[in-house]
Amino acid sequence: MFVKSPGSILVYSKYTHDLPKFERILSKSLPGLEINFADAPERAEKYFPETTIFYGWGFPAAWLRRMPKLRWVQKMGAGVDDIVGAWPADSGVVLTRTDGRLIASRMAEYVLAMILDHNLRLDHARNLQANRSWTYFEPGRLSHLTVGIAGLGEIGSEVAALLRANKCRVVGWRRSPAKSDVVDQTFVGDEKLREFVAGCDVVVLVLPLTEDTRGVFRREVFSAFKPKAHLINVGRGGVVNESDLLSALDDGALARVSLDVFAQEPLSADHPFWRHPRVVLTPHICGPLIPEDVAPHFIANVKAFLENRPLNHLVDVARQY
Ligand code: OXD
Repeated sequence: MFVKSPGSILVYSKYTHDLPKFERILSKSLPGLEINFADAPERAEKYFPETTIFYGWGFPAAWLRRMPKLRWVQKMGAGVDDIVGAWPADSGVVLTRTDGRLIASRMAEYVLAMILDHNLRLDHARNLQANRSWTYFEPGRLSHLTVGIAGLGEIGSEVAALLRANKCRVVGWRRSPAKSDVVDQTFVGDEKLREFVAGCDVVVLVLPLTEDTRGVFRREVFSAFKPKAHLINVGRGGVVNESDLLSALDDGALARVSLDVFAQEPLSADHPFWRHPRVVLTPHICGPLIPEDVAPHFIANVKAFLENRPLNHLVDVARQY
């Protein structure tokens, strides 16, 4: 028996192909609740006046101030940097996010794929094939690599576990001290960042974007990287100073950069990353929000909300994640 009346739930995903799946799963699991679905602003806006619970991804933060009855927002993704800065802190509206573990295994696979692609020199192999050239070359080995993971939360820990299972030595960096047994060594705090990157063949960024992490990977940090290092960013583009990164690439300081996230998305058509010979990029695909994977977390939280139990993955708005 629910102790709270839910009011009206609005589910918003800008990906049209997702919405019918969310509709099927949520309508079946939460019968009797009023749930509206929208995949475009003009279809969402008419529900704002009555919306009490909002579950969404890819929406402007300003929308939340146009929902006078709003009590709780669950972000469909794990990151909340795009809305937390504009959060109406005095409004009593609660913010939760999706459990990063629900997308972490796909992100870990992406990281492993990028490492293997570079380490096995598959680009070189494709060039040889294109030229019908039977020329021996020696591929690298994962067990020879030290991989550094910046950000040891739910996602970083899963990335670390997969890489360790594949025999990489894995070290971690985090901003604040916390016990972590998923890595062989942990570096803590800004003052240890240069030392951390200096020992890594591959550096993987899985950091949330906050005022403290914005632009942390900048010129002084790139200058401490091992020569020929490989940088992979699957967290948030804003933690990297992109013009310093381009300079580091042009100076030959980094052998390869694999990017799934960017300071501005979509990446503008004239951005130098598109054509840079040492950049491999993908359009923010590595942690897809598959309805079957993420909806059950929202359903469990709706039940908790209606029964006055604590919600999972409450965002600490002051810490910004
Ligand atoms: C997320 C994302 O925040 O997909 O989960 O970027």
